[in-house]
Amino acid sequence: MYQLIVHGGAGTIAGEDHQAAHRLGAELGLAAGEAVLRAGGSALDAVHAAVRPLEAALCFNAGPGSQLDEDGYPAMDAAIMAGRDLRAGAVAALCGSAQPINVARAVLEDGRHVLLAGAGAARFARERGLPLGDPLAHVTPAARARLAKRRAEGSRGTVGAVARDVSGHVAVATSTGGTVGRRVGRIGDSPVLGAGTLADDRSGAVSATGDGEAFLRTAFAARLLVRLERDRGTLHEVLMDELHEVWRRTGGRGGAIVVTADGRLAWGHTTADMTVAWATEASRGA
Ligand code: GLY
Repeated sequence: MYQLIVHGGAGTIAGEDHQAAHRLGAELGLAAGEAVLRAGGSALDAVHAAVRPLEAALCFNAGPGSQLDEDGYPAMDAAIMAGRDLRAGAVAALCGSAQPINVARAVLEDGRHVLLAGAGAARFARERGLPLGDPLAHVTPAARARLAKRRAEGSRGTVGAVARDVSGHVAVATSTGGTVGRRVGRIGDSPVLGAGTLADDRSGAVSATGDGEAFLRTAFAARLLVRLERDRGTLHEVLMDELHEVWRRTGGRGGAIVVTADGRLAWGHTTADMTVAWATEASRGA
């Protein structure tokens, strides 16, 4: 049996048009990831395949739809990790890539480092032949309008996927455009293993979305997976307990998707909404 969940960020998804765009985007990500799993592919390939269309969908805060920093640049974070052998690759504050998850995957395959940031991440991408363009070429009018309108507000959109393949291995991928109007150089929780992203075959895989600083300060993903190794309680209760703990202790809100080592799925959020779609061999839903 395989399992897969994708998310398109936690927050408030206002209006039917936005909700429909989120649903469609999530479906595209789910279909791409599920095709890999159905063909017997690995969880790692599945989460990578799932996140690519999520990054490409302009309704999400990732890839070309990314939020802009205080200087008007889309500097993006992404991470991918295999629970089988704990191999991981991540990029932070990367400009000019339409698909940062591809650069994170290349960091994983390269194997020398885990997390590359800024100009170093861009140079690595160029050396690997991964396309990088003018960072401002990807900026959408909607992102410019959000920066102009919501400079002081937080934003909570991020995309991610967790999967367990037919061999029982888990993996995770997360990609984000960060928070609107953030300081130049700000890095969120998504590329930091143990904060917004983590996979370990001993426990499971988790991808978070929401207030990155809160997930960083509480080492959210690490705490959740350690708890899953020890605590055999209801998965959804454990997840919500950890999300509420983040909220209680830091005031930060968000959500997460989880697949456990034994193939259970859960998602939850302390925000108004979160876009999710899931599939197993036997069923699917959103
Ligand atoms: N959770 C995404 C970010 O704060 O960057």
